[in-house]
Amino acid sequence: MSTVIKNGTIVTHDLTYKADIRVEGGKITEIGPNLSGDSELDATGAYVMPGGIDPHTHLEMPFMGTYSTDDFESGTRAALSGGTTMVIDFALPSPGQGLLDALKMWDNKSGRAHCDYSYHMAVTWWSQQVFDEMPEVVARGITSFKHFLAYKGALMVNDDELFSSFQRLRELGAIAMVHAENGDVVAELSARLLAEGNTGPEGHAYSRPTQVEGEATNRAIMIADMAGVPLYVVHTSCEESHEAIRRAKQAGKRVWGEPLIQHLTLDESEYFHPDWDHAARRVMSPPFRNKMHQDSLWNGLASGSLSVVATDHCAFSTDQKRYGLGDFTKIPNGTGGLEDRMPMLWTNGVRTGRITMNEFVAVTSTNVAKIFGMYPRKGAVAVGADADLVVWDPEKSKTITASTQQSAIDYNVFEGKEVTGLPRFVLSRGRVMVRDGAFDGHEGHGQFVARDANGPVSQALSAWKDLTAPRPVQRSGIPATGV
Ligand code: URP
Ligand code: ZN
Ligand code: ZN
Ligand code: ZN
Repeated sequence: MSTVIKNGTIVTHDLTYKADIRVEGGKITEIGPNLSGDSELDATGAYVMPGGIDPHTHLEMPFMGTYSTDDFESGTRAALSGGTTMVIDFALPSPGQGLLDALKMWDNKSGRAHCDYSYHMAVTWWSQQVFDEMPEVVARGITSFKHFLAYKGALMVNDDELFSSFQRLRELGAIAMVHAENGDVVAELSARLLAEGNTGPEGHAYSRPTQVEGEATNRAIMIADMAGVPLYVVHTSCEESHEAIRRAKQAGKRVWGEPLIQHLTLDESEYFHPDWDHAARRVMSPPFRNKMHQDSLWNGLASGSLSVVATDHCAFSTDQKRYGLGDFTKIPNGTGGLEDRMPMLWTNGVRTGRITMNEFVAVTSTNVAKIFGMYPRKGAVAVGADADLVVWDPEKSKTITASTQQSAIDYNVFEGKEVTGLPRFVLSRGRVMVRDGAFDGHEGHGQFVARDANGPVSQALSAWKDLTAPRPVQRSGIPATGV
């Protein structure tokens, strides 16, 4: 059985052209004019793009005394409904737990996924066991490892652990990732704020000024450079962090930055809302920033100094957020966004002229696939690629509201926002999962995607580090010692 997507305009990260696409056996088998097939999808007036890939989700994650509410079922249903056809979630061992043990737990949860998925591995503690298990994790196709410089006393690792882990990742050809906020400073500021009576959600923002992010980003970049490993900085939210990434890139260091759609489109005024629930629902780390920082992130996407737009989807219900009534440090950190990332970025990025359509494809899909070792199987409209495709109607509009969303939580941080640009069809390996806004997926359709280690960037960086490594000076004679 073949499906043909007809009369659309294909948009990739580097090309825009009119052609039909034939899909068979879950793959793209032909691209060209006037194709026909067993069934047809009409893409007249629409753009046909690689499905979105969200490289940063936390589905059913144990965190701050609870579990994030969206699991692999509701989370991937939300993803597909918004044009995202793959997610990369974080397998998160609790401190003391082995990496392979954590992978088993994530495998038990992910069987319900509607779309394809992969994992990053989190390094939440350091030991011989973690060191020993890393090669097996990489052999299973999990080739990126996240480190938390925040969440002191829980997930945070120190600089010696960070350096040891980064060196191991270089040996394995893997990618290092960081949550860059200085956890020691955040802990001090939080204690002081609470003692001074700043107990509300705005205290969360006060406790995480942009300096804590700038410092940690810069530190991680320098440590990664000394270890010789490429570095991916998650949820880059401010100019200080972006500046460190920009400067590093200009100096030839291999670093990528990932702003979130939330930081691009929502600002810090949310935390000063008179309604406690409203403010607490938006508590995440790093917090939302002001317009100057938002402009910096948009400019980074346009200039290429920032590479990816993600969500960090980690959805907690209002009841869960209320664990932090009277103490902002107990509000579970995280916000949702999986269903809204693509429409919000199209509306606020492409329609305003901040980014081009091709840049939209790059930052929502292709760059992710390239950085994380799965291009061109994912992130491409090309013969042989998986038929993970979105037929995007640039004129279709809606108002975002929790009452119609797929996510299982009871609110949406984008409530009331108008978006123009929505999926008409969404295909996961050739199967139509969304038709004109109606979800038609099925639980368990999603498959694990094993990713390659030793990508071109890791190889190039490793070669350069070998060439420039310290080595003894060969001398012709050694001076006699003594007098
Ligand atoms: O507040 C956030 N970002 N929650 C999810 C966990 C993380 O730090 O990425
Ligand atoms: Zn994080
Ligand atoms: Zn996260
Ligand atoms: Zn299926």
